Amino acid sequence: MGIIDSLAQRRTYYHINKKLPVSEDAVVKTVEKVVELVPDAFNMHSQRVVIALGDKQNQLWDAAYDAFKGEVVREKLDSFKAGAGTILYFIDQKTVTSLQKQYPLYVDNFPIWAQQSNGMLQISVWSALRELDVAASLQHYDPVIDDAVYKLFNVPRDYKLVGEMPFGGIGAKPDPKEPEDVTLRVSVAR
Ligand SMILES: Cc1cc2nc3c(=O)[nH]c(=O)nc-3n(C[C@H](O)[C@H](O)[C@H](O)COP(=O)(O)O)c2cc1C
Repeated sequence: MGIIDSLAQRRTYYHINKKLPVSEDAVVKTVEKVVELVPDAFNMHSQRVVIALGDKQNQLWDAAYDAFKGEVVREKLDSFKAGAGTILYFIDQKTVTSLQKQYPLYVDNFPIWAQQSNGMLQISVWSALRELDVAASLQHYDPVIDDAVYKLFNVPRDYKLVGEMPFGGIGAKPDPKEPEDVTLRVSVAR
């Protein structure tokens, strides 16, 4: 699949299930490859990823429900728990701080670049999963779930959680997108 097809197939899938069309190992290997290939400013390698599978996947979304103390309805969080796993995206603050110290001229830029690189990672993983016929969405229950995540996954406090991507087999497809006149957002200058 070329990149345009891959991006077109990637959608927000809210209806996911535990029936992965590929092995968990194939998902892990794909995520590892994407992490390796996605660029980062100064090649700083600020991205960190935890892939929650099996019991950890269920525990994550139960912990999210507890963290929100009923403010997010159970059905919503259960729709993510219904997936086979969740990819947790982090930025390693230690790496960012170290680069800020090395290059003081760019002190304000490194945190922004780290976020940008993480966004590149997220879209790349999201699309690569879809190429495996694995459906996903991107969620942001951080920072409310941060403490639960640190505890459950034993990640260093220097890791800043920036996104949660539940994934699984396709339960139902999203509606097709409305056509858009994209020339309103893209201009050409020669
Ligand atoms: C930076 C970013 C943050 C997002 N956060 C959420 C979120 O917290 N919850 C959610 O359900 N979708 C979230 N989305 C998904 C968007 O709502 C979705 O991608 C958009 O409506 C376009 O739909 P599509 O993914 O099907 O193309 C996020 C997307 C991006 C790029």
